[in-house]
Amino acid sequence: MTLVANTKHFSPHTYYIHTFGCQMNVNDSEHIAEILHQAGLRPANSPEKSDLIIINTCAVREKSEEKLFSFLGRLKTYKKKKNIRIGVTGCVAQLRREEIFRKAPHVDFVVGPDNYYRLQELVFSGNKEVATAWHTDWRELPTPLKRTSPISAYVTIMEGCNNFCTYCVVPFTRGREKYRPLNLILDEIKKLADSGYQEIHLLGQNVNSYQDPESGQDLVDLLERVNQIEGLQWIRFITSHPRNFHRRLAEAMAHLEKVCHQLHLPVQAGSNKILTLMKRQYTREEYLEKIALVRELVPDVSLSTDIIVGFPGEEEEDFEQTLDILRKVQFDNIFSFRYSPRPRTAAARLPDSVPLEVKRERLVRLQNWQRNIQLAKHKALCGRVMKVLCTGRSKKDPSQFSGRNEAYQVINFASPRDVFGQFVQVKIIDYGPYSLKGELVESGEKS
Ligand code: 5AD
Ligand code: SF4
Repeated sequence: MTLVANTKHFSPHTYYIHTFGCQMNVNDSEHIAEILHQAGLRPANSPEKSDLIIINTCAVREKSEEKLFSFLGRLKTYKKKKNIRIGVTGCVAQLRREEIFRKAPHVDFVVGPDNYYRLQELVFSGNKEVATAWHTDWRELPTPLKRTSPISAYVTIMEGCNNFCTYCVVPFTRGREKYRPLNLILDEIKKLADSGYQEIHLLGQNVNSYQDPESGQDLVDLLERVNQIEGLQWIRFITSHPRNFHRRLAEAMAHLEKVCHQLHLPVQAGSNKILTLMKRQYTREEYLEKIALVRELVPDVSLSTDIIVGFPGEEEEDFEQTLDILRKVQFDNIFSFRYSPRPRTAAARLPDSVPLEVKRERLVRLQNWQRNIQLAKHKALCGRVMKVLCTGRSKKDPSQFSGRNEAYQVINFASPRDVFGQFVQVKIIDYGPYSLKGELVESGEKS
C-alpha cells in the first residue's frame, strides 16, 4: 500500500542491514541481503556508507522493541544530511506499522515477515510504503549466497505459530504456521553442504509440528533425509515445543548419526498454576517425563531451556517450583527473561501483578542458581578431549579461536595453526560459568 508519494525519488546503490533478535531474523536478513543483491545493490559496512538502511526488528519482549526506536532516533539527523531510504522489517514492522510512521516519519517503508518477496519493488518505489498483508501459503525467497558464517548455516523450515501461549506475540507478528516444502529445504541444504558448510540449524518457532505441505512428511522424516546429505556433519533443530516432543523424535536423535545430541526445550515456568495461565498445554510432571524420555534414549543429551520470571500471578512458591525444575533437570544452559506484557496477547489483559523489583530479584536468583549448576558441570569437563567445530578466530591474537562442541557449549581455545572452519580435538583446561577454555590436541598426541 502506498501511503505518500515522494517527489525526491532516487535509487539506492548500497545497503546496510541491522538485525535484532533471534536466529530466524538473522536468516531473514540473509534472504533480504540476497534480494537486494539481485536487485543490483551492494553491501556497505556501516549505515553512514549506505543509501538504503534496513532495520530487521524483534518484538518478542518490550526491551527488544525499544531498541528499534532508539536506533531510528539516531538515523533522524543522518537522514536530514543525506538522501537515503530507511526500511523497517521484521516483527515490529508487522505489529506497529502505524506507530512507526507516527513516531519516526523519516521511515520510508515498513515490511512484515510475510512480505519480503515484495522488497525489491518497495526499495525502488520512492514512496512511503507499507506491506503487512498475511499469506497462508509458503513464499520461497531467493537462497542467500552470502551468509553470516561460512561454516554453520541457518535453514528455515517453517514459520509462525498456532499455539497462542498467552504471553507470546509471535502468532501476531509471524502469523499461523506455514511449512516450507521438503524438496526446497533439501535442495538448499545440499547446496550448502557442497559449498563446504559443516553444520546446519533447522529453524522454526515450532519445528516439531513441521509437515511437508505436499506429502505430509514430518520433522523426523526430514531429519532422516538431511542425515543422508553428504559432506554435512552436524544437524541441529530449534525450537521444540514440549507438548509435541515425542519418543519418535528422541529415537531419531539417538540413531541418526549427524543429529546432535542437543535439545532446546523451553519450559517457561515450573508451577502448574503458571503453566496453565500461560496456556503451555503441559504440566511440570509431563515436562519432566519428556526430559526423562530423551535422557533414556539419548543419555548424553545436552539440554537448554527458556524461562520467564514474574508472569502475572507468579508467587514466591510458584517461582520456587521453577528453581526446582532447574535443580531436577540440571540444564546445560538457560535463557531467562523478565515477563513483559506484549500487545494483543491474552496475558496483556491480566494485571501485571509482580512488581518490577520482585521480577528483577527473581531473575538474579534464577541466574545465580543456574550459574552454579553450569560451574559444576563445566568443572567436571576439565581434562576431557572433545570434538569442536571452530567457528571464530580472535582478531587481536592469531593463536586464539572459538567454537562449539556437539553439546553447543562455547569453547575458547589456543591453537598454533589456523583451524578456522575445521573440526578439531580440544582438551578442556579451564572453565567459567558460560564457556570452556581449551587447547588444540593434534591427532596422535596423547591427552
Ligand atoms: N515476556 C518475557 N519473555 C518472553 N518470551 C516470549 N514472550 C515473552 C514476554 N512477553 C521469551 C520466552 C520465549 C523466548 C523466545 O522469549 O521465554 O521462549
Ligand atoms: Fe510463542 Fe508459544 Fe508459539 Fe513459542 S509456542 S512461538 S512461545 S506462542
